[in-house]
Amino acid sequence: MEDSCQRYAHRASEQVRAPSFRRSLCLFPGATARPGGAVVMTRARELRPPEIREVLFSEARLAARVAELGAQIGHDYRGRSLHLIGVLRGAVPFLADLARSLPLEDVSFDLLGISSYGPQTESLGVVRLTKDLDDPVVDRHVLIVEDIVDTGLTLAYLREQVGRRGPASLAVVALLDKPSRRQRPVQVEYVGFTAPDRFLVGYGLDYAGRFRHLPYVGAVDG
Ligand code: IMP
Ligand code: MG
Repeated sequence: MEDSCQRYAHRASEQVRAPSFRRSLCLFPGATARPGGAVVMTRARELRPPEIREVLFSEARLAARVAELGAQIGHDYRGRSLHLIGVLRGAVPFLADLARSLPLEDVSFDLLGISSYGPQTESLGVVRLTKDLDDPVVDRHVLIVEDIVDTGLTLAYLREQVGRRGPASLAVVALLDKPSRRQRPVQVEYVGFTAPDRFLVGYGLDYAGRFRHLPYVGAVDG
C-alpha cells in the first residue's frame, strides 16, 4: 500500500520535471511530504541534537561575519596573491566560505593537519602534525585559517612551523577566539568572534568527532 509520502510525491510528479527523483526522496529518513505535493528534506540548520545546550552563533550571523572578514582581508591583500592554509579538520567549513567571499583574483589554498585534542573536551597540550602541506609557501603571502584559538598552543606551533618556511608574509584568521583560556600569547590578525569559555561545536568544531556538520556554532556544556 502506498504511504502518504509516496502519495503526495506522486501528486507532485504531475508538477515537476523529475517525478521519479521526487518519489525516491521518500526513501530517505529526513523526507517529509507536504499536502500539495512538495517533498521537504530536513536540513542541517534545523537539526538540534539534545547535546546542544545553546546556539551561540547562528548560521546567518556566521555568514554575515565571514562576508565582513572576506571584504576586510580582500582590501588588505588587494593586488596580491593570497595563499590560504586551512587547519584540518575544524577550519574546513570556514575556509570554504571565506575563500569564496574574498574579492581577490588570485587565491589558492592548501590544508595542514594538526591534532591537539584527545577524544574529550580538554586539550592534551600536545600538538601533532598529522598532514603536511602539499605546496611550498616560500615567497607567498600566507594566511593561516583556523577555526578557534583556545590555549594558543596550536597556533603558536603553526606560526613557527610555517614562518620558518620563508613566506613573504604570514598572518592568521580565526573564526572564534577564547582569550580567557590563553596559555601562550599568539598573534591573530583577524578574529570573527570572541567566544566565551564554553565547549563549542558546529561549523567545523567537533565534540569527539561529532557535530562538525552543523551550520551554526553551539555550546555542549553549561
Ligand atoms: P589550542 O591549541 O588550545 O588553541 O586549541 C586549538 C584547537 O583546539 C582548535 O583548532 C580546535 O580544533 C580545538 N578546540 C579548542 N576549543 C574548542 C572548542 O570549544 N570546541 C571544539 N574544538 C576546540
Ligand atoms: Mg583546529
